[in-house]
Amino acid sequence: MHTTTLSTAANGAIITDHRHQFLTDVIEGLSSSPKCLHSKYFYDEQGDKLFQQIMQCPEYYPTRCEMEIIRQQREEIIGSVLKYLPQFDVVELGAGDASKSIHLLQTVCNTLPDFTYYPIDISWNIIQDLEKRLPEALPGLRIHGLHGEYLEMLQQTTELSHRNKLVLFMGGNIGNFDARTAVNFCRELRRTMRPGDLLLIGFDLKKHPQVILDAYNDKQGLTRDFNINLLHRINRELDADFDPMLFHHYPTYDPATGACKSYLVSLEKQKVCIGKEATITFEKDECIFMEVAQKYSPEEIQRLAFTAGFSPVGSFVDASGCFADCLWRG
Ligand SMILES: C[S@@+](CC[C@H](N)C(=O)[O-])C[C@H]1O[C@@H](n2cnc3c(N)ncnc32)[C@H](O)[C@@H]1O
Repeated sequence: MHTTTLSTAANGAIITDHRHQFLTDVIEGLSSSPKCLHSKYFYDEQGDKLFQQIMQCPEYYPTRCEMEIIRQQREEIIGSVLKYLPQFDVVELGAGDASKSIHLLQTVCNTLPDFTYYPIDISWNIIQDLEKRLPEALPGLRIHGLHGEYLEMLQQTTELSHRNKLVLFMGGNIGNFDARTAVNFCRELRRTMRPGDLLLIGFDLKKHPQVILDAYNDKQGLTRDFNINLLHRINRELDADFDPMLFHHYPTYDPATGACKSYLVSLEKQKVCIGKEATITFEKDECIFMEVAQKYSPEEIQRLAFTAGFSPVGSFVDASGCFADCLWRG
């Protein structure tokens, strides 16, 4: 069973509502200064596949580190949750392929006979895949996928179930908001959660700048392809005429702010048509800001929790000290 707020045909074809929002966001982003595209649009079928490959590549340490936390500390994590919530459902914001959360779900299945897992994702393909694959991997798992935006779908889960929730927001997805937007998002998140709900939230920690930069500039070029794929998606879904060969992937990391940002640089002066709706002019060397992956210190994580109105009640870090999954109470 799944829920979607978007008009989606049985075969997953995207129809008007979604296309209209995508078009509006693309034109608005490419008309702003500096130009930008929203990273949530990275995840079409090809983007999902590329991200799964990125997670496997040697330079991309966050997945390995968080996987270690979840595999080795899952009993402690679920034990901490049970201290506050004897019964709960699990909601996952931006579930992706659930390759890490499946281990937590396994532990919850062993402990609670009766709970529902609500994965939320903006990618329709992800929701379809999870609803098919997870009950095969975890027999008896009750799953209700929600296709749409994080907070809108979280709101729906509060209407679908009156139980308290363990909300998972893993993989450093919070890092895709700049530091100020992250505060506002966490405040909204706490308001949408019921009092007493718990949030397990992943943070990529500040570390040697080269290690971070390499993770977003892998030798196989997967991160480049992941960024460039959004231009292909805009061509396909919005009838645009980007020549992806005329854009160069340029990642940066600023250790002072913890912001790891990626850009696409226009290699020449050029014009790009977005269907019949807009024509965008690029100067040579002009950049499109594609994504931020914000890194945090432990002090910044604590401050974010308190500023957003959460009480931190647990912290689980991998052996190398690269990544933290924090348990916050709403
Ligand atoms: C970087 S992947 C991480 C997946 C997973 N959390 C993990 O730890 O492996 C981000 C996922 O969040 C989804 N996503 C991104 N922005 C979203 C939004 N605004 N609302 C819902 N899902 C979103 C993407 O489709 C993608 O599957």
